[in-house]
Formats: sequence, C-alpha cells, structure tokens
Amino acid sequence: MWRPKERIRYSPEPGVWPTATEAAASRLYSPLHVGRLSLAQRTWVPAMVPWRADENGNVTDAVIAWYERFAAGRPGVIVVEATGIRDVPSGPLLRIGDDRYVAGLREIADAVRRASGGATRLFIQLIDFLQIRKRPTPEIYFRRYLQLTDRHRAGVGAETTLSDMDLRERLLALDPKEWPSILNSREMEALEMGYRERIEDTHLAHIRDLPKTLPGQFAAAAMRAQRAGFDGVELHFAHAYTMASFLSRLNQRSDGYGGSLDARIRLPLEVHRAVRERVGDSFVVGCRYLTDDCLPGGSSLEDAKWFGQRFAQAGLDFLSLSRGGKFEDAKQPKVSAAAYPYTGRSGYECMPSYYSDAQGPFGRNVEPAAGIRRAVRAVGCETPVVVVGGIHGFTQAERLLDAEQADIIGFARQALADPDWFEKVRLGRGSEVRVCIYTNYCEALDQKHVQVTCELWDREDLEDPQLQLSHDGKRRLLPPRWQPRNVR
Ligand SMILES: Cc1cc2nc3c(=O)[nH]c(=O)nc-3n(C[C@H](O)[C@H](O)[C@H](O)COP(=O)(O)O)c2cc1C
Ligand code: SF4
Repeated sequence: MWRPKERIRYSPEPGVWPTATEAAASRLYSPLHVGRLSLAQRTWVPAMVPWRADENGNVTDAVIAWYERFAAGRPGVIVVEATGIRDVPSGPLLRIGDDRYVAGLREIADAVRRASGGATRLFIQLIDFLQIRKRPTPEIYFRRYLQLTDRHRAGVGAETTLSDMDLRERLLALDPKEWPSILNSREMEALEMGYRERIEDTHLAHIRDLPKTLPGQFAAAAMRAQRAGFDGVELHFAHAYTMASFLSRLNQRSDGYGGSLDARIRLPLEVHRAVRERVGDSFVVGCRYLTDDCLPGGSSLEDAKWFGQRFAQAGLDFLSLSRGGKFEDAKQPKVSAAAYPYTGRSGYECMPSYYSDAQGPFGRNVEPAAGIRRAVRAVGCETPVVVVGGIHGFTQAERLLDAEQADIIGFARQALADPDWFEKVRLGRGSEVRVCIYTNYCEALDQKHVQVTCELWDREDLEDPQLQLSHDGKRRLLPPRWQPRNVR
C-alpha cells in the first residue's frame, strides 16, 4: 500500500457522542428521500466486498449472515458489495448475471428486512469489469502468452527460419534489461504486472461492442435486483472498472464514446436510461463515481462536477462519491498475484489509512463532494449526495450535514469495525462504539481475496464453539453481538 511520504500517524477522533435526545434531534438521524424512497436516517454503509460468495458467485449462508449482522445496526442504507452483471466466471465475487441468482439474493433482502425491522433500505452495487490476469513468470509469459510478431523476430536479429518456439526461448534468455527495447509498452505491462484489458482495445470485438452490450446487461441485472426484493441499485461508475474507465479523461476511444466530456459520459447515461426503462420510476437507481481519478492526466474535480450535473439532470436518484482506486498507478503485484487498484496513490485516496500527510485521512473527500453538491444544486437538482472517506464520529458527520456539504454520510470501514455504530449513537451509547483505527488490515484481506474481517474483533471469544471461523480457522467471521444495557 502506498503511503504519503510525510508518514504522520493519526488516531481516530470521534469527538463528543450525543445523548439519545440530541441524536433524535440531529440531522444525521432525520429522514430523507432518495428517489421515491424514504430513508429513516442519513447513514449509509457503502459497498464492501467481504469475499463470502462461493466460487460460482452464489449467495452463501455466510453472505446472508454478514448482511444480517450489518442490518442489526439499522443504518439508513446498506449497499451490498460489488456484484458482477455478466454471467462469466469471476471467482468468489457475488454475481447477478443470470436469473438463477435471484433466489439467493432474495435471501439477503429478506434477512436485512428482518434484522433491521424494516428500518434499513437495501441497494446492490452493479459492476462490470474487464479481464485482468495474474502476473506471470517470464517463462510463462514468453512461452505461453506473448503473441509473436516480426518486431520480436527483428528485435533479437533472428533469421526467418527460426521456429516460433526457439524465438520464444531466445527472448526469454535475453538480459531482462533488453526486454523493454523489444517488447512494446503493453507487452511489458503484461510481463511485469499481468495482462489487463482496456476499454480502448477496440480490436477485440467484445470491447468494441461494450456500448452495445452493457446497457442491456446492466438493465437485466437491475431487473433481477428488483425481483429479489432490493430497494434499488447503485451503478458502479467508480474506481478501476469498466464504467469509470469510460468516464475517465484517460479514455481515448475514437468511436464517439471517448475523448470529450460528452462522449465519455455517453455510455453511463445510456446504461442509466436502459436500467430506468426496465425498472420503472419507483425503484431507486443511483450511481457511485469519482470526485477525482487522482491520476496524472485523469479526470479532475471539474470533470466530476460536470458529470454530477448531467447525472442529476438525467434523473439518477443519488450520487455516491468516492475517489481514486485505479489500476494505472497500482504497485507491481508478486508473481501469480493480480494487480490491485488500491496500492498506489490513487488507492490511498480511496481508502486513506492512519499514516497520512498534513491533510490527514479523515474527510479527504469532503470538500470535493461538497463542490459537486453545489454544482448539482446550481442546475436546480436536489439529488442527494453521499460522501465517504474516514468518517467515524457523530460530530463530524453532523457538521458535514449542517454545512450542507453532503446529504448522506457513508461509513465503510467504521461500519466494518462496528456495525452497531448507528444504533449505539442513536441510543446515546456512542461511548460503546468500537472506533475504526484505519490500519487497513481489512483492505489487505480484500487484496488477497480472503474473507474480510476487522482486527478489532476477529479474535474475540474464539473458544465459543458456536462461532463460524474463517477458512484459516483463526478468525471469527462476524462481529460480536451488542446487547444494549438499560435501554428501554
Ligand atoms: C474490504 C473493503 C471492500 C470494499 N469493496 C468495495 C466495493 O465492493 N465497491 C466499492 O465501491 N467500494 C468498495 N470499498 C470502498 C468503500 O466502499 C469506501 O469507499 C472506502 O472504504 C472509503 O470509505 P471509509 O473511509 O468510510 O472506509 C471497499 C472497502 C473495503 C475496506
Ligand atoms: S481492520 Fe478494522 S480497524 Fe482496521 S481499518 Fe479495517 S475496519 Fe478499521
């Protein structure tokens, strides 16, 4: 994980906790409309992949138990983790690309409704992503993956009679310092980082056709979410994935879907239109996108303000704002591991940890989100804006709402550290909150695609025979239950 060079160490500052009466009178615990839906409070658990689905992307008992546990804290909204809209193998990532997934997803919706007493609204994040391969060894890369051309032959000065197999061996035997003069930049990337498709790879039919295929795939997925009993969908237009790549200023497609702002937002708007047509007006359809790519040459806050205005005018029901989280500046993975888009500077901006710079890890996305909200209001739209990024205290959350910098407060890692944050604070029991220390232990587990837990609770009461443990047998999978004392 990249860290700012200043390496200033921060501790969480939750501030003063409110009494139950103060909480009841607060903005945070006041209702709000999102589309045609009303939220009981302005708290939001953003999408977080916990790696509990099975290898075919099915909902498991562990997935249901996970969301049930979050629902016991009764936040205003839970957004279920990034869920793949295509029916393609993608390991233990939850999927919604076929009707066979609906029954399992319905179990999540039922469990959340039950555990929250109907207080929590449930959305699901719909994601599309392009292919990414693990970093190969040079042997595997040269012998299996490199697509040979005359350029490679000329590069090693090989006679035309040299067989392809011998050419591969000759390339492999070169001093690695010579590879960059023979391989082009994409080939070097495939060797050093692992092959990764890009939206500009329009020589590949399935990438050229993304504008034709994605609107229908998103729409079918949204329809399934509706049938499964969700209250809405969050279109994933953020981080390192397909739709965010279309929005990015780095998008160089020349087919009318890249280059100018209008062209870059065209597919996201077409996706939204297709989804809306399928699910009707009463189902919530919002999106998550970036206030800033946090990459050299990437989209800036000015781009994001313009996108926000267009999304709001198009009728998206909410704008959930994240930042960074890109492949372009990801660190080189180890051999046999895939690049992870949260290891570079842009990744730091997405999930800032306790070692930070003078600005600190708490609320780095607030000013940009506030700027987008102002831009959206300036064109006469009231679309709610959700902000996240190191928010863990009531006072901070309330101040943001009071100052009209956001409409809804997202607590991702804080909810992972303590899913009962919302009830504890509402009941005047804030001092019992397990406050996130922003070490990113959870994110390191996510990077390895192993079951995500929090270091603040995953070793507690391990001797309890009832506990479900992680695959390594060392961690409990769910936070301990909270029993409010003396609460009427
Ligand atoms: C374990 C883990 C998994 C995550 N998975 C997703 C995801 O599926 N989709 C998404 O948009 N963001 C994901 N995020 C990012 C969070 O939603 C959130 O934007 C980020 O953690 C910053 O908010 P925070 O400071 O409140 O944690 C994930 C974060 C963590 C820690
Ligand atoms: S492991 Fe727990 S304390 Fe550490 S960042 Fe994640 S949620 Fe916070």
